[in-house]
Amino acid sequence: MGLPHQRLGVNIDHVATVRNARGGAYPDPLRAAKMAEEAGADGITAHLREDRRHISDADIEGLMEVLSVPLNFEMAATEEMQKIALRHKPHAVCIVPEKREERTTEGGLEVAREENRLAHFLAPLRDVGCRVSIFIAADRRQIEAAHRIGAEVIELHTGAYCDAIAERDLVTRDRELAALTEMAAFAHSLGLEVHAGHGLTYDSVSPIAALPEVRELNIGHFLIGESIFRGLTPAIHEMRRLMDEACAQKEDVA
Ligand code: PXP
Repeated sequence: MGLPHQRLGVNIDHVATVRNARGGAYPDPLRAAKMAEEAGADGITAHLREDRRHISDADIEGLMEVLSVPLNFEMAATEEMQKIALRHKPHAVCIVPEKREERTTEGGLEVAREENRLAHFLAPLRDVGCRVSIFIAADRRQIEAAHRIGAEVIELHTGAYCDAIAERDLVTRDRELAALTEMAAFAHSLGLEVHAGHGLTYDSVSPIAALPEVRELNIGHFLIGESIFRGLTPAIHEMRRLMDEACAQKEDVA
């Protein structure tokens, strides 16, 4: 049996950042999303922030209408966002921290301290059929808590690992990669599906794509930035190529 395809979710938030810099409608994140889909993205990710600094409510509505691939709707665990998600019923919701106090030291959601509230928060989303993912640090305590509150998926925060690569801090890079490796295996052993993302670039993606348990990567800022230089489609194709190359070297754990 071959390995299941590792999905690439393309985050189009920063197309909206550029649009919003001038107001108006250009560049259109929906057009970028359709182009990403045609370039082989397995899903589109968009984060509707409480302050609407990039993606807007109308963008989410438009994405739900035009996409053929699943939408991964990133949102804070607020009542307002829950209502929006329940109205649109996206394929997946990924719960992310937006405020400092919701974060663990590594930047993911602080699940362990808020288990009860989050368990109640997630239940209606699961009831309408959304796959619930929790964006967390590679931290055993947070993973156990995510499992207890009924998440199907965790997305491991790769930000600290990517920062270490950008800063050429090899000690931190190795420490972060070891934690991601160990915690991906631990989460998988609990029955959680493992995704990863944040800050990934061509320089950092391969070791993460090579982790046998990682079924999906969500990548945005770098791809949108790189599309200035080589175009969105070639930028995505190159990321896909690097992921496929890394995946070809790993053993199945399913
Ligand atoms: N995954 C999650 C949960 C995120 O919040 C983000 C950023 O919005 C990403 C992945 C993508 O990160 P980046 O834009 O740095 O690639």
